[in-house]
Amino acid sequence: MQICFILGTRPEIIKMAPLIRACEDKNIDYFVIHTNQHYSENMDKVFFKELNLKSAKYNLNVGSGTHGKQTGKMLEKIEEVLLKEKPDVVLVQGDTNTVLAGALAASKLHIKVGHVEAGLRSYDWGMPEEINRIMADHISDYLFCPTDLEAKICYKEGIEKNKVFVTGNSVVDAVLQNIKLVNEKKTLKKYGLTKGKYVYLTMHRPSNVDTKEALSKQIANLEQFCKDTGLNVLFPIHPRTKSNLEKYNLKPGKGIVFVDPVSYLDGLALMKNAKIILTDSGGIQEETCILGVPCLVLRENTERPQALDVGAAKLVGSDYTKFISGYNNYNKKIKPWKNPFGDGKTGEKIIKSLF
Ligand code: UD1
Repeated sequence: MQICFILGTRPEIIKMAPLIRACEDKNIDYFVIHTNQHYSENMDKVFFKELNLKSAKYNLNVGSGTHGKQTGKMLEKIEEVLLKEKPDVVLVQGDTNTVLAGALAASKLHIKVGHVEAGLRSYDWGMPEEINRIMADHISDYLFCPTDLEAKICYKEGIEKNKVFVTGNSVVDAVLQNIKLVNEKKTLKKYGLTKGKYVYLTMHRPSNVDTKEALSKQIANLEQFCKDTGLNVLFPIHPRTKSNLEKYNLKPGKGIVFVDPVSYLDGLALMKNAKIILTDSGGIQEETCILGVPCLVLRENTERPQALDVGAAKLVGSDYTKFISGYNNYNKKIKPWKNPFGDGKTGEKIIKSLF
């Protein structure tokens, strides 16, 4: 059995790493196709280095573009490799354009497709990710759901029960394997921070950053938040957000500290030691929940309701009243919660279920 991993962005590298590790441990034949949807040193290569992953066998150099162009280029190039290599199964992870292209190319060639992190739904068709994940789920042969909730969603949508596996989310494996390698003191020193005295922010969703109106509203909220709490916000800035701030000539004020995108290990250290996290990322909602740090989600909905259910996260969207009251509640009291996303053995479980 030969497995082909297809990945392309920062979160896919992180969440596929435990599965790749499981193949190496068990001497299972595999190779990696990297679409290079993410390609900058700090969005891509640093993750391969820190996670100790071999370079991909194929780098497709697709890069950025509109949805159609990017996905189309990927489809064409992935197909070429699959026709040549003829793997037994293709694994894709998450909800990016790389996932859609990988799953589609493989299924049209009648190669089995496994979708890691299947069954998540935000029910928000305005998100490109919602389209990608629904399409990928419905053309996959193996659906690896993090919890029972996603399995039930798959059944409800008519997906055959024998295709669905509840495995946990490999983000837990990644956090537990890598948190041991983190040098918290060194990272805090590097960024000039003190434990519990800063807020960690990530924001890159098109709904928050692609229009001037949405982006200026979030920036105004952040400035108000810094004023009201006296806290500084560390903001590792995603290239999409950076270019839109420049395009709209927005210059965030006092308290918001911009840094380049951080490496995986620095990111874990910065999240673990923050007072609170603000994010619109899906993966970070999971990671903060696993690390035991509360999180305010800068979105109106989430495909990861488990973090809300255990009290680890709150949806605040772009409403400042919800934002500050969410913070004040966590500032008063944090009730510890149990991580709902799995036991850290997801990588092994997924690989095992392919045999
Ligand atoms: C993509 C995923 C999103 C995921 C995110 C993780 C889709 C539809 N979106 O969003 O689900 O949460 O990755 O970060 O697949 N850029 C660089 N360097 C890079 C990569 C991108 O400068 O290495 C810039 C380019 O200007 C590009 C922009 O960032 O146009 C957006 O990149 P893109 O891959 O289109 O989407 P993301 O916003 O990163």
